[in-house]
Amino acid sequence: MDLIKVNQSKCIKCGFCVNVCPLNVLCMGEDGPIAISPQSCMKCGQCVAICPRRAIDNIKTPLANQSVINDSLFINSETAEQFLRSRRSIRCYKNKAVPRDQLEKLVDIARFAPTASNRQDVSYIIVENKEIIKKATEITIEWMESEIKNSSSHYSFPYHVHAYRETGTDTILRDCPYLILATTPKDFKNGRENTMLSLDYLTLFATTFGLGTCWAGVFEMCAFAKDSPVLKLFNISDDKIITGAIMIGYPKYSYKRMVDRRPLDVTWI
Ligand SMILES: Cc1cc2nc3c(=O)[nH]c(=O)nc-3n(C[C@H](O)[C@H](O)[C@H](O)COP(=O)(O)O)c2cc1C
Repeated sequence: MDLIKVNQSKCIKCGFCVNVCPLNVLCMGEDGPIAISPQSCMKCGQCVAICPRRAIDNIKTPLANQSVINDSLFINSETAEQFLRSRRSIRCYKNKAVPRDQLEKLVDIARFAPTASNRQDVSYIIVENKEIIKKATEITIEWMESEIKNSSSHYSFPYHVHAYRETGTDTILRDCPYLILATTPKDFKNGRENTMLSLDYLTLFATTFGLGTCWAGVFEMCAFAKDSPVLKLFNISDDKIITGAIMIGYPKYSYKRMVDRRPLDVTWI
C-alpha cells in the first residue's frame, strides 16, 4: 500500500504538504505530491491537515480521522490568559465522585500534547479506588522512612513523615479522590518530558469540568526510585515505568484572585 493517495482533480500543487512535512517525506511531482521516503513518515498528519482541498490522504493518518478546525471556537488572548493563570494546584478536595467519562476525556485530551518524534508513548492509569490511593501514601511514607535511615533523604521527607505519623495528615496525595498515573516504556529516554507536557494538557483541560489537580511530585520521588515499592501496587509491568502522577477531584474552595509570579526574566538578543 502506498503511503499517500492524491486526488489529482482536487490537488492544486500548492506545495503546503511538502513544506510542512518535518522529515522531507514528500516532494512535488508533476501531478502532485509524491512520497520519496515513505519509511521516514512519523505519522504527524501535517500533510493531510494542511491541505486546503482535501486532496491528500495518508495511510498512517487518514483524512477520515481528522476533524475540521472550527474557527468560531478560537479563544481570544484575554480569555486564554485567565484560563491559564487561574489554574492552581488544588490540595483540598470535596468528597464527590467525578463521572468516569470526564476522567477518561482528560486522558484522551492529554494524548494530543506534543511528544518527541511523535512517539505518543504515554499510557495512563486512572485510580479511583480510595483504598489503593491510601495505600500509595502509606507505601511512600514507609519508603521515606527507609531513605531517612539511609541518610539519602530529601529535605522534605521528615516533614511528610511527621505529619503522617503524628497527625494522620496525608501531605503526599492530600486525600485526593482520584489519582492519574502516566507510564511509558522503560527504554524510552523522552518519557518524562512527554509525560509532563501531556499531563499539563490534562491539568489545564480539567478546569473546564470544574476539576482541580495537583502534581504529586513527592509521591513521584518514590515512584521513580529504583525498584519502587509502588510499582507492584499499580500492577506496572516490567517493561514500563511510572513517569508522572496527578491528584484530581473537585476543589473544596474556589479562588477569587490570580497570583503574581516572580518578575519576568527575559533577554533579547
Ligand atoms: C513537577 C511538579 C511537582 C509538584 N509536586 C507537588 C507535590 O508533591 N505536592 C504539592 O502539594 N504540590 C506539588 N506541586 C505544585 C507546586 O507546588 C505548584 O505548582 C507551585 O507552588 C505553583 O502553584 P500553582 O500550581 O497553584 O500555580 C508540583 C508541581 C510540579 C510542576
